[in-house]
Amino acid sequence: MGGTRTAAEFRAEFPVLDDLVHLASCSQGALSRRLEEALAELTRSMRERGAPWESGWIDQVERARASFAELIGARPEEVAVLPSASEAAFQVASTRDWSRRPGLVTTDFEFPSVAHVWLAQRARGADVRYVADDGVSVTAEAYDACAGTDTGLVSVPLVSYRNGARPPVREIARAAHERGALVFVDAYQGAGVVPIDVAELGCDFLVAGALKYLLGLPGIAFLYARGGVPDDLPPQLTGWFGRRDPYAFDPRGLDHPEDARRYEVGTPAIPAAYAANAGFSLLREIDMTAAFAHVSGLAEELVGRLTAAGGAAARSGGSGRARPDGGAGRPRPAGAGGVPGGAEDHHRAARPGPAHRAALLQRALRRGRAGRRRRRVPRGDGPMTAPVALRAARLLPHAYADIVPDAGVLAADGEIVAAGPWATVAAALPEGTEVRDLGDVTLLPGLIDCHVHLAMDADTPAAS
Ligand SMILES: Cc1ncc(COP(=O)(O)O)c(C=O)c1O
Repeated sequence: MGGTRTAAEFRAEFPVLDDLVHLASCSQGALSRRLEEALAELTRSMRERGAPWESGWIDQVERARASFAELIGARPEEVAVLPSASEAAFQVASTRDWSRRPGLVTTDFEFPSVAHVWLAQRARGADVRYVADDGVSVTAEAYDACAGTDTGLVSVPLVSYRNGARPPVREIARAAHERGALVFVDAYQGAGVVPIDVAELGCDFLVAGALKYLLGLPGIAFLYARGGVPDDLPPQLTGWFGRRDPYAFDPRGLDHPEDARRYEVGTPAIPAAYAANAGFSLLREIDMTAAFAHVSGLAEELVGRLTAAGGAAARSGGSGRARPDGGAGRPRPAGAGGVPGGAEDHHRAARPGPAHRAALLQRALRRGRAGRRRRRVPRGDGPMTAPVALRAARLLPHAYADIVPDAGVLAADGEIVAAGPWATVAAALPEGTEVRDLGDVTLLPGLIDCHVHLAMDADTPAAS
């Protein structure tokens, strides 16, 4: 986490990228050679040593804890190892005495799972409040206005999963502390690309899991707790790994370590710890500030090219979204259904920018699929579905192509069979094709690496 590898050298660690365009770093980081080796080492350890808990496996967990601590400028004693970010959020919430300070301040830019944990605290007396926002990001002033004098916990994402916005965490934390509240930062979308220094951020808690930019696998997340124990109450979820001596095996004793291990619960996910260490070993070889600058540059290039093509300078466009409760200004909650980290969730943008246009295409294609299901045309050798052609003002056929004006995409039987100038696509439409003119939109194949939005700055035009 301070090395000097170039982007090209780093990329060579991911041979999978020779064959695949990885469009989902936010759902799962690309497979590295080192991750494959780590998993092979795990299975080798089982074959050769059976169940080497104390001669290898627990060490993997400790190495992961120490590496995460190093990544964020903390001490290993300040880091708990947990299965997911949601469980980490729960551990923090469960230690708050809401009768003393009921206010729990959050934002619509929070990842929903964390917000759900906060909402569930209502049953324990928390008064969950949402900071007003402009649909693009949230300000420190808005956070402070929402906090009042009775707030126990202020929660803010380091980078929003929704549009890559980076709220002013330092300022938010400073103001929250002046009001006597603790600060929880969800850094899942930033860890591994955005340089993090918890002392500089001034947060009390920070969480991140390993599956995205930390280049590991699901099953492991890290919870930083300043000084190890900023609690009102002991954590409510616990287990033998949350004891001072996990191997004391005392069913009548419930002690809590004086460090962040107090938040831990049951048997750690050993395969995920191996994977996390593979990711950390890669990250150790790059300079995080340089990586952030590189990724930011790529994001700016995408924004620049789309803006130049005339389709994406969207920051000035109002969202026009209505609140579900009829109020103004609050964006619609993202992500009904779908897999965790699913494209639909993550592509919803607050305003009609490039991500939103991609979502429109996806929706149109989905509708096409649903339509085809309804319109099955019997044929001699089995059912066939009607093809759909989409016409649009612009098409970006792939990441390195030029924009094609007045273009079309022909989809049939679940596959894109043609894409290019509308005149060419239209000339070869099969009989029975349903033609949909989408008008002034840009068609993109999965918005390139749609899940790498964390370097987009909410202040950058069109980043929304
Ligand atoms: C900001 C953020 N927090 C948390 C999560 C996931 O949390 P969990 O580990 O509980 O699944 C995600 C997943 O996409 C996320 O983007």
